[in-house]
Amino acid sequence: MKIVVGVTGSIAAYKAVDLVNQCRKLGHEVRVVMTKHAADFVQPLTFEAIAHAPVVCDMFAEGVEALAHISLAKWADVCIVAPADANVIAKMAHGLADDFLTTFILAFDGPVLVAPAMNTVMYHQQVTQDNLARLKSYGYEIVSPASGQLACGDIGEGKLADLETLLFHLEKSVTAQTLAGFRLVVTAGPTVAPIDPVRFVTNHSSGKMGFSIAHEAALRGAEVTLVAGRVQRPTPVGVSRVDVATTAEMLAAIEALMPEADGLIMAAAPADYMPAEYHEEKIKKAGDELVLAFRKNPDILKTLKPILSDKIVVGFAAESHQLLENAERKLKEKNLDFIVANNIAGKDTAFRSDYNAATIIYKDGHQEVIPRQLKTELADKILDEIQHIRCQKEER
Ligand code: PMT
Repeated sequence: MKIVVGVTGSIAAYKAVDLVNQCRKLGHEVRVVMTKHAADFVQPLTFEAIAHAPVVCDMFAEGVEALAHISLAKWADVCIVAPADANVIAKMAHGLADDFLTTFILAFDGPVLVAPAMNTVMYHQQVTQDNLARLKSYGYEIVSPASGQLACGDIGEGKLADLETLLFHLEKSVTAQTLAGFRLVVTAGPTVAPIDPVRFVTNHSSGKMGFSIAHEAALRGAEVTLVAGRVQRPTPVGVSRVDVATTAEMLAAIEALMPEADGLIMAAAPADYMPAEYHEEKIKKAGDELVLAFRKNPDILKTLKPILSDKIVVGFAAESHQLLENAERKLKEKNLDFIVANNIAGKDTAFRSDYNAATIIYKDGHQEVIPRQLKTELADKILDEIQHIRCQKEER
């Protein structure tokens, strides 16, 4: 991606250095354009060193080619103004072009993201809010500031959105919004089966597969709710999250969400069994053996079949042997649109790995082998298929 980062006169200008750095690390090309006041906060040389490209502050400075704003506009895929101070927001909202940054923005017809950062009173001024609303109405994307303690000591909204949020919106701005309007529930991670106040039984699921799907779906514009089992992972930007512990809690959460959803992807590994009896007090250590009886947990997909019949439903099958036979049976029993059969006995795939290899089995019986790849890539493949089914449903 070719990114122009516009930096303006806010104390948060130093955070743009990190943004440029991360963009470069992710393999993007970056050009930095600074306003005169931004250069009072951070030296252009800092950005030049990080971006590996000259920084433009003044369009009439020596060495800046004539019509540089036009050639930059033709070069860029996306522009992000971060931090955007109240002054540049006001100028952009009224089509002013009195410096290189605002002139470039007027000449650029690609996506422009505006990430405000300023004192909370300045941010909440009606005039600033009106200017932001005006920019939004023109198609600019506003990346809302965060709340917290500001440089001036005040507490409130006005902090530049965090790096992850800025990167998410940059990527989203160049991603086809093929799932816009699609309301998707994704499950991830393991559930736990408590034994006593100290102990529980669980499995090796890390949540990576489900979290990757949620992230990629949000990038494509879906409204995503992640039902997460016991995992310590940050919530992907743009995704709502419901945390659960047990299989019964996961079932209840999905049941509550599905009436307002269009699809469900069950990448979680819910515990199939739970101790028959929960011990209110810690089981004391005694004897060489401890025998516990287990009883079956509800099967979520089977239990919810009646309310899932008009939704797009995708399951996973985690098997160490007879993968395809077992997956085919689950596909039918659970009435799925397709099932992603992953072999959990493979080396560095499935549980805990960043990679997965799978065979997708569709309702009509045809199969597609997906070689080992990053879970983010498999997530993309799964979402392509969902998009395909969605189109077919809409045509009917
Ligand atoms: O979390 P990671 O470390 O990234 O690993 C990813 C994964 C291996 C957990 C994931 O890719 C995966 O395979 N998830 C499904 C695990 C599983 O429970 O498989 P299963 O074959 O037992 O169940 C079949 C389907 O029924 C699954 O979609 C499962 O979510 C669902 N299920 C299972 C048990 C249950 N009580 N109710 C269910 O609905």
